[in-house]
Amino acid sequence: MPDDPQTAGPGWHDLGPAHQLPPGEVIEAVAGDRIVAVANVDGELLALDGICAHQGGPLGKGRLEACTLTCPWHGWQYDVRTGRQQLSQTIRQASFAVQVRSDRIWVRLDPPA
Ligand code: FES
Repeated sequence: MPDDPQTAGPGWHDLGPAHQLPPGEVIEAVAGDRIVAVANVDGELLALDGICAHQGGPLGKGRLEACTLTCPWHGWQYDVRTGRQQLSQTIRQASFAVQVRSDRIWVRLDPPA
């Protein structure tokens, strides 16, 4: 990624100021044509598809406890490190690369090469 945070490169999306996402919090953000949930787990930022696999609830408005993100609609829980729904081996939210550059949160929607 180039040093200039305004030219992060193809596939990367600026989600806003990193200082507005303190540890233990989760936010909802729009990146391109997707809604993502970005969580801060002890200073590490992790991003998942923000639309719950159950019935489309807003995961970015859920509750974060350690690495567990709970959907605000019906309580499905996901591990934000992996995207896995905690009661099912087959349900997994897409996850995305995140970087913080010059106090901006950047997320890459493209899958890693
Ligand atoms: S929509 Fe997320 S648990 Fe139902």
